[in-house]
Amino acid sequence: MTEVAQQETQKEVDLTAANQILDKYQDMHGALMPVLQDIQEAYGFIPEETVHLAAERLNVYASQIYGVLTFYAQFHLEPRGKYIMRVCMGTACHVKGASRIAETLKDRLGIAHAETTPDLKFTAEYVACIGACGMAPVIMVNDGTYGSMTVQKMDEVIAKYKNMD
Ligand code: FES
Repeated sequence: MTEVAQQETQKEVDLTAANQILDKYQDMHGALMPVLQDIQEAYGFIPEETVHLAAERLNVYASQIYGVLTFYAQFHLEPRGKYIMRVCMGTACHVKGASRIAETLKDRLGIAHAETTPDLKFTAEYVACIGACGMAPVIMVNDGTYGSMTVQKMDEVIAKYKNMD
């Protein structure tokens, strides 16, 4: 995502939801993890402003929160797309042309691993085997699995999600 798009997103952060989450866990011991999970659920990622708000309200250092956020892969500090396009790069998929599938994604949407389109619709992720080797090469879009992928099928899948809200 571009720096400008990031700045735009950061400008728009409304802390109402984060405050409600912090209210909910106010008197709970060890609330940091559930607070961060709920914030990510509400915002789709952990905006910087919510880290500072949580630090203030939970009486911990922001650096401690960043330590947790960078330790656990489940947390994301940057906005992510509504549709996460996971391209399997495991051995079976690699042998059957996963790199061509990843290149198609890059060509059509302009995103490589861990990149998000400026409209926040798509994020690309290259992942290890997702356990569907019999259908290699495989991609996942959020919870949906698509097997025996070709460039043409990639175009169809991309078009399908482009046309969805
Ligand atoms: S290697 Fe891709 S699903 Fe197993």
